[in-house]
Amino acid sequence: MDKYFQIRVNSLIPDRPTSFDLFVLINKHYVLYMRAGDRLKEDKIKNFENRANDVFFVKESERQLYKDYVHTQVNDSNLPAVQRAIILRESSYSLVEELFEQPDVNVALNDSKQMIHQFIEFMDQEPDSMAHLIGLSSHDFYTYNHSLDVSIYCLGLGSVVGFSSVQDLADLGRGSLFHDIGKRHVSADIICKKGPLDDVEWAQMKRHPAYGLRILHDNQDVSDAIRACVFEHHENHMGNGYPQELKGPDIHPMARIVALCDTYDALTTKRSYNEPMSPSNALTLMKDKLAGRFDPELLKAMYSVLFKMKAS
Ligand SMILES: [Fe+2]
Ligand SMILES: [Fe+2]
Repeated sequence: MDKYFQIRVNSLIPDRPTSFDLFVLINKHYVLYMRAGDRLKEDKIKNFENRANDVFFVKESERQLYKDYVHTQVNDSNLPAVQRAIILRESSYSLVEELFEQPDVNVALNDSKQMIHQFIEFMDQEPDSMAHLIGLSSHDFYTYNHSLDVSIYCLGLGSVVGFSSVQDLADLGRGSLFHDIGKRHVSADIICKKGPLDDVEWAQMKRHPAYGLRILHDNQDVSDAIRACVFEHHENHMGNGYPQELKGPDIHPMARIVALCDTYDALTTKRSYNEPMSPSNALTLMKDKLAGRFDPELLKAMYSVLFKMKAS
């Protein structure tokens, strides 16, 4: 039997032919919706967007065709940058969802490389890419959305504070994408609990950086920087974070970036128990009430990243 994978409707460009067949899922059956070579009209895409489940399915055997399609559109300078950003981001959300469902983390880590490189490439070509990538939508807080958003912020902030080599950015991109990977070993009841955690639950939750480090343990391909993003992203500048209570200068610079972007994303994203804050309110809160937690230089740089976004 054929296998299928899911793609988001908004990862397709209206009126351009696709190189793969599109299917919809009806009563647990995959039904051909559009053949390769046909074009999807804009109003059809809009129709789909309004449904609760805005996805299509593509045959597993045509995965490479879909990847090539995305790559071509994202690099097509004839398309407006914002549209290219939408395609990159929307195609990546489904990919990250898959990565996070992949039982073998080594496979997921490896499969994430290409995606992070596409982001680095796009940010390199497009001066306003951060604005386009981040300004697109406000999401509900799903782990995979959160992880990708944190990763995008980290790449933006990281490049502003001087990480410029592809190797560094790739480490930062992947380290931040997998920063919460240890939550795999925290029970789902705790992860999904609506409301404050009790002491016992909190103690388990706080083990996720150590669980994460253990998960990465056997992977030769993972750099120390990636390990630090996973293990040190809840350390804080004053030295009262966890698990090691490291102080500012002892925390890996990339983990400091993840810590900041992680908090910023959590504050500005809608969750079941709170309303999202505006970017400026979130930054003000971080600067005034949470100041001791973050590297002050990074906090300043985050302002400039977000200010640039607003200005464009
Ligand atoms: Fe975390
Ligand atoms: Fe997080």
